[in-house]
Amino acid sequence: MGHRRRMEFLPFVLLASFFLATGDGAAAAAPFVPADNFLLDCGATTSGPMPDGRAFLTDAQSAAFLSGASTGDDHSASVSAAAPPPPPVGVPSPIYLSARIFTGDASYVFKLTRPGWHWIRLHFFPVKATGFELTRAVFSVITDDHVLLHSFNAGDPTAWTFKEYLVNATSPRLSLRFSPQRNSVAFVNAIEIVSAPDDLIPDSAASLFPVGSAAAVGGGTAFQTAYRINIGGPTITPANDTLFRSWEQDARFLQSRSTAERVNVSPAIVAFPSGAATDLAAPNWVYASGVKMADTRVGRRNFNISWQLDVDPSFAYLIRLHFCDIISKSLNDLYFNVYVNQRMAVSGLDLSTLTGALATAYYRDFLVNASLAGDRITVQVGPMAEDAGKVDALLNGLEILKMSNSVGSLDGEFGVSGDSAADAGNGDSGRHAAAAVGLTLMFGAFAGLGVMVVKWYGRPQDWEKRNSFSSWLLPLHGGGHSSFMTSKGSSASFFGSHRSGGGVGFSSTMGLGRYFSFQELQEATGEFDRAAVIGVGGFGEVFLGQIDDGTKVAVKRGNPQSEQGIAEFQTEIQMLSKLRHRHLVSLIGYCDENSEMILVYEYMANGPFRDHLYGKELPSLTWRQRLEICIGAARGLHYLHTGAAQGIIHRDVKTTNILLDEGLVAKVSDFGLSKEGPAMGAAAVSTAVKGSFGYLDPEYFRRQQLTDTSDVYSFGVVLLEALCARPALSPALPREQVNLAEWAMQWKKKGRLEEIVDPVLAGAINLESMNKFAEAAEKCLAEHGVDRPSMGDVLWNLEYALQLHDASPPEVPLAPAAASPSPERTTAAAAGHPEDNSANPAVDELLAQIAGMKGR
Ligand SMILES: *[C@@H]1O[C@H](CO)[C@@H](O)[C@H](O)[C@H]1NC(C)=O
Ligand SMILES: *[C@@H]1O[C@H](CO)[C@@H](O)[C@H](O)[C@H]1NC(C)=O
Ligand SMILES: *[C@@H]1O[C@H](CO)[C@@H](O)[C@H](O)[C@H]1NC(C)=O
Ligand SMILES: *[C@@H]1O[C@H](CO)[C@@H](O)[C@H](O)[C@H]1NC(C)=O
Repeated sequence: MGHRRRMEFLPFVLLASFFLATGDGAAAAAPFVPADNFLLDCGATTSGPMPDGRAFLTDAQSAAFLSGASTGDDHSASVSAAAPPPPPVGVPSPIYLSARIFTGDASYVFKLTRPGWHWIRLHFFPVKATGFELTRAVFSVITDDHVLLHSFNAGDPTAWTFKEYLVNATSPRLSLRFSPQRNSVAFVNAIEIVSAPDDLIPDSAASLFPVGSAAAVGGGTAFQTAYRINIGGPTITPANDTLFRSWEQDARFLQSRSTAERVNVSPAIVAFPSGAATDLAAPNWVYASGVKMADTRVGRRNFNISWQLDVDPSFAYLIRLHFCDIISKSLNDLYFNVYVNQRMAVSGLDLSTLTGALATAYYRDFLVNASLAGDRITVQVGPMAEDAGKVDALLNGLEILKMSNSVGSLDGEFGVSGDSAADAGNGDSGRHAAAAVGLTLMFGAFAGLGVMVVKWYGRPQDWEKRNSFSSWLLPLHGGGHSSFMTSKGSSASFFGSHRSGGGVGFSSTMGLGRYFSFQELQEATGEFDRAAVIGVGGFGEVFLGQIDDGTKVAVKRGNPQSEQGIAEFQTEIQMLSKLRHRHLVSLIGYCDENSEMILVYEYMANGPFRDHLYGKELPSLTWRQRLEICIGAARGLHYLHTGAAQGIIHRDVKTTNILLDEGLVAKVSDFGLSKEGPAMGAAAVSTAVKGSFGYLDPEYFRRQQLTDTSDVYSFGVVLLEALCARPALSPALPREQVNLAEWAMQWKKKGRLEEIVDPVLAGAINLESMNKFAEAAEKCLAEHGVDRPSMGDVLWNLEYALQLHDASPPEVPLAPAAASPSPERTTAAAAGHPEDNSANPAVDELLAQIAGMKGR
């Protein structure tokens, strides 16, 4: 895992979509072959094939690994049960029928082919042994670095005990010491020491915590499987898992059975995105079954599905939730919330966007400091409060791993060398203490937060791959002229409208949306009454209209002088109708009667995002609202770039093209400049530079070659506008302040970005959240497209910023507006916010020079 680079933006989503989109995902991961695979059937005289098909070594062969064996310092004896215990005791495997007994300390030592993550699996069953009472045995089991069991007693004669651990072996020699208590013996029936895939456990380097995060899930941490559950599905035995894991059923953890409905599909249809979750994370059987909401009827669906699992509150836990959308009929239909211990873990989990396809495996990890929550972990999935597509929620698999404590113990508070976790808080006990400090900082800093996302897991390791993805997204229409194209800086701010129910006959399957007669639209807009004009653009005017039962719509009427022909117009409609996403303004229909070119969109009651940031006297948005709006817009753009509609570059991302509906849900609008990706393999096509100054990607400007990273750049500017509440370009300001992107990045580099944040947010914005947000903006604004993140990565970082904000309501106000006045400082009030005026070509020229293109 050490080979992974530390990176801020994880290209998992993008790559997953890429492989799926290009059909290149067929190259399934090669089956995992463990480098080390020691299987010891202790006490056994013969070795037959086990139920899971694996061959274990006999006791005579196993004894070779006992360190005392060669020196005559052996304190052990082997026993075999004559016959399996009768039901109801039973045992799942013959390995439980024999044991090796240790009368003093004894160690098995394994020479590893390769250090790194290893499973340690221990099997116990107190077989009858002459001269020993194994039900009374009390002992500890200790590796080189970790205490696995402390004063353990496997005393129930009617039960077998299975313990599974994951440890990172740091040396090529792994020892396992059995240490009986005084006047007692130790025993074990079978031992497995098996290499585990490197990336099974999230590595620390990529975890996104602002403080101490690198140690959060460090290689020094050992894990014990507390629960591994195939939600909604059958028990999965080791034989059916590539890594010989067991998965139990969820029924006994499910809180209210009536809330849950089991669903399943054929495991064969579960897709594993290449480079992402593989069947190493979980077998397809896990993803092929799940639990969804039992009742989604209106009025009945206001509940969560909950699972409760008892845990030892003195440990932290890594929780992995497995998802696979096996219930949706189409993409972008399912959004739901995930909670852990009553805290929001994921708001609006959007599997379609994350995986780019249905029935595709996905998982996400969380850290829980259980002591904050009591002695159980509760996992819940439930509907989003807002109306978000289909109402449902889903969970397919759940793993809970106990994490070793500050002294490296997984059982009790004493470490290998006898030091106690209770005294280890001073940061002086090596790497375990470092991990503990990390955790404490994490959990301390986010007062009261029990759950945090560690990171997305399963991202591909080579970040550079995304370049090939980018080049795949080149513009189709080389000359870049289509009549929906609005000229730079003047694109229409239409606020359109469509309530997806209300009699509006929009159907995604119709392809072209609904056909309106000219007369219908005349009536809808009061004969295209000038008083109904809500926006003007290069294309023409936008009218507010009412159709059918009063549904408000935005009617965008093409200028008859426009050079675009009806045929092209229809091509455009086809493209626009393919775009259907909660965060894109929907095209409802069109009219091409009488050579008219009219588009009908859903009406966005709250108008452009920009109006809520500055320039209009609208009430200020809170930081949370701004974050949610940016997240929504990022989702929309991510869908354009990677979604079902093929790669589409928006080309004119800006705050006036992000519209807000009556619930302030953000929708990206005006794909007037959008370009569809060309067929695979098409050569790069240069295109006339379009877009709005202040938002324009300097690289695009220089090279006139368009990629989706140009949208990412523009979105970076949008983020800064949201943060600073000022226009992308303010020509009236002193020169160094004119260009928001440049100016803000200067402050960011100085580490003093908070000084230019919208004063309204002062004291109401969580600093960690702001920093995460600003980092995202900075990455977006990278000089070169290849260095910029994908929209999926940006989206993730914004969601993370939101979680940070929710986790910890700000306590320390930002520098108040009056404090530390700097000559460079402008406030929203002082600057007066001149609108960017890029209609004048001379101004354009000037601004283009200013707009960060010095590097040419
Ligand atoms: C596991 O141990 C190896 C060897 O000490 C180390 O290089 C690696 O970074 C560790 N893994 C993690 C995830 O820390
Ligand atoms: C497990 O594997 C067996 C044989 O390969 C198969 O018949 C069975 O359906 C599998 N399913 C589960 C859930 O264990
Ligand atoms: C959990 O949080 C508490 C309080 O913040 C802290 O004292 C404790 O060390 C944490 N436990 C772990 C295992 O990190
Ligand atoms: C689901 O659970 C969360 C956290 O426990 C709670 O805040 C939320 O209100 C619940 N939602 C519903 C619909 O009951």
